[in-house]
Amino acid sequence: MCGIVCYMGKRNAKEIILEGLKSLEYRGYDSSGISVLVNGKLKTYKKAGKLDELNFLLKNKKLNSNIGIGHIRWATHGKADDINAHPHVSYDGRISVVHNGIIENYSELKKFLKEKGFEFKSSTDTEVVSNLISYFYKDDLLDAVFKSVELLKGSFALGIISNDENRLIAVRNESPLILGIGENEFILSSDVSSIAHLTKNVIYLKNMDIVDIKKNYSIYNNRKKVEREIERIDIELSSPSKEGYDFFMQKEIYEQPDVIRKNIKSYINNFSIDLKNSFSKDEIKNFNKIYIVACGSAYNAGVVSSYVFEKYAKIPVICDIASEFRYKINFLDEKSLVILISQSGETADTLAVLRNAKKYNAKTLAIVNVYGSSIAREADKTLFINAGNEIAVASTKAYSAQILITELFALDFAYKFGKIEKKEIENILKELKSIPEKIEIILNKKSIIEDFSNIIKNKNHIFYLGRGLDYFSAKEGALKLKEISYIHAESFPAGELKHGTIALIEKDTPIVAISTDEKLTDKMVSNVEEVSARGAFVFSICTEKSKKIEEVSNMSFVLPKTIDIFYPIFSVIVEQLLAYYTSKNKGLDVDKPRNLAKSVTVE
Ligand code: G6P
Repeated sequence: MCGIVCYMGKRNAKEIILEGLKSLEYRGYDSSGISVLVNGKLKTYKKAGKLDELNFLLKNKKLNSNIGIGHIRWATHGKADDINAHPHVSYDGRISVVHNGIIENYSELKKFLKEKGFEFKSSTDTEVVSNLISYFYKDDLLDAVFKSVELLKGSFALGIISNDENRLIAVRNESPLILGIGENEFILSSDVSSIAHLTKNVIYLKNMDIVDIKKNYSIYNNRKKVEREIERIDIELSSPSKEGYDFFMQKEIYEQPDVIRKNIKSYINNFSIDLKNSFSKDEIKNFNKIYIVACGSAYNAGVVSSYVFEKYAKIPVICDIASEFRYKINFLDEKSLVILISQSGETADTLAVLRNAKKYNAKTLAIVNVYGSSIAREADKTLFINAGNEIAVASTKAYSAQILITELFALDFAYKFGKIEKKEIENILKELKSIPEKIEIILNKKSIIEDFSNIIKNKNHIFYLGRGLDYFSAKEGALKLKEISYIHAESFPAGELKHGTIALIEKDTPIVAISTDEKLTDKMVSNVEEVSARGAFVFSICTEKSKKIEEVSNMSFVLPKTIDIFYPIFSVIVEQLLAYYTSKNKGLDVDKPRNLAKSVTVE
């Protein structure tokens, strides 16, 4: 969480840093700030609110400086206000620090520093870092950083400058930090997206690396100078544009047919699956347990895909939330396959599970969107979901692409495992090829969804119901609505509602009932009758074959026909549009909902 951009070189540091922070807004956007050195003096500006607030504050300030640090924040310690915004300058005004991560032992350090006479202005954990460096600082900033870092516990990427030296120091521990090396200039950032326009030569710093930049750069680890490989990034970045859509989320919803087409082109060869970077038949035969671990929407995509493993590969799958799984006893060994799903490839809990799995010699597969991300680089095998840049905080196109790629992997697994015939795969792939056009049909029927969004926009609660795979779709639908419309939305297996939650149903309580499984239609119809009898207003998402549910619903959306494993991709389009219109019609910031960040790099 939070984003860092630091610069030292020949250009105006303020301009480079502000431009870089723009592409890191997905990491948080509740405050931002910069410190630059102007004629040996630290100038620090910070502001609560979105990055535009900082841009406005700095609009007419020239700030002639070639060295600076910048930060965009997602609050962990201390509310989002001007004082808690980074950078944090030490009590004596000598050291300025930006920080991404959490200093877990900050209260002990704060107590120690207070006893030494240091005063604190903010409620953040970061302010102890600038004061600690100042405490150790005699005449060598690097030495003071070495001594300070040895006392820090937790996760931290740091950018540090001082009044007294023309020098930029950065530290990486658990939170990502990348060094970009240009011609007589250096940039450090949490993500390559804010580096690529300056240089394509980068170093992915390792844990506890400390970079010291003066005229040139040196990297230290454990106080010893180390060499790190310079890698070339081959991404071309164009500035994201809404291309006529009102919000990035809307654009990204509409991009889904093309994302699926791109993945079909990448991974399907006529009528067979060709994942290129996957496990061999022998490796697959060795597995006896599969775990799918992820957070947020990626977890919901994992649950959908686990169904495909169980149905076709006939192997039990445990699907868990990364922040839970990392602290469980989970029987990982060399016969385990751990699949990590992550759009950003940087989610702290998911990354921790990956590293833990490797310690137990389990094999790891990453299903990731962002090239060069930590999870993509560290897993044994990585499959990219080819969703392109996803800007809106609420995941849409990455979610459907995650389902698709994990399902393809599951089918390929089942084939190599000897549990499914080639012919059956061919039939599934034949159907897959029709999915993009069918999504377009759904997108063209958006008006009924917009009508329902107007019905729910002023409600406080809504329930999403489904059975089997549709329950998994219900989970994602509820999450999407909560994230961007701030309406309390909960999902339930439809049969479970009567074990408690039905007590909350009253006149006009909105319900989204998803019913794509013909075998379960009658059960769903009964469940809808139960809530209707208590006054609920039901919007059903169904198919031609489960149309019976239309008769007992107030409104309904009939999906085009497909096979069971692709219905979650259809249902979610309806759910995404519902969340989108509800948020938009409430006048909310669809792309940057309150309190959220796109990439969660703290525990
Ligand atoms: C955040 C985002 C969610 C996302 C989750 C997991 O909470 O707001 O949209 O699903 O992180 O992110 P990942 O990058 O690992 O898929």
